[in-house]
Amino acid sequence: MKNILDAPFIREMKETTANMYRLGWDERNGGNISYLLDSDEVYEYLDANNVLRTIPLGFDAKSMAGKIFVVTGRGKYFKNVAGNPEENLGIIRITGDGTAADLLWGYAGGGVFTSEFPAHLMSHMARLSVDPENRVVMHTHPTYTLAMNFVHELDDKKFTHSLWEMCTECIAVFPEGIGVLPWMLCGTNSIGEATAEKMKDFRVVIWGMHGLYAAGKDMDETFGLVETVEKAAQIYMLTAHLPRVNTIKDEEMMELAEYFGVNYRKDFLNL
Ligand code: 13P
Ligand code: ZN
Repeated sequence: MKNILDAPFIREMKETTANMYRLGWDERNGGNISYLLDSDEVYEYLDANNVLRTIPLGFDAKSMAGKIFVVTGRGKYFKNVAGNPEENLGIIRITGDGTAADLLWGYAGGGVFTSEFPAHLMSHMARLSVDPENRVVMHTHPTYTLAMNFVHELDDKKFTHSLWEMCTECIAVFPEGIGVLPWMLCGTNSIGEATAEKMKDFRVVIWGMHGLYAAGKDMDETFGLVETVEKAAQIYMLTAHLPRVNTIKDEEMMELAEYFGVNYRKDFLNL
């Protein structure tokens, strides 16, 4: 049996949480990540029959029965993950009836998975239904995106359009646009269901005045989506109070999207 601390997926979780903390997106216990793993790869490191404890989910995840995830812990700080992965991360397998998760490793000291796990698992289900390659769901509190929530209308088309206008390549990075939810109570099944509904159309979903969710086929794609949205929001916030002299026109965004051959939301442009 190989050493779990050498597993590439643990290294990716350590690096990603450290980067997110470094960028100031994840203060205190803010943010959480879930990463769908390949079972055969996990069993090179862990005994499939050694269940440490079983943690109830509080919702039905039958379609995910048997699936294994590495997930950040509830109340755990991203800044601490790299130094102590066994306490801050857990590897869990959804039970056969989809009502609980078997802990295979981690959450040392009695921890559990993130309070946002309903939204994560429901988002995985929604993304997998439209993209079987989806593996990662990430929730974070990026500063400028959050700031923009307070000064910009919370509307899918209008928010997307403002972000697309801020960086030439935004329309190529998230051509499907981004979904936007109003403020909702976090940690609940309801916000999970609303997020998952948006995740059928978008890989990025804003949680109004809270943060965002992003999904992707690997850690780089998902992190890159957040970085790009956050960069655009930063430029928006740096310029929102200044007279706009130049802008990227809708015709130019269309030209770029067509040059890159991406399937973009034409109805999010005003042509
Ligand atoms: P957790 O500590 O439960 O992951 O919650 C953090 C968070 O960002 C809640 O929205
Ligand atoms: Zn949050």
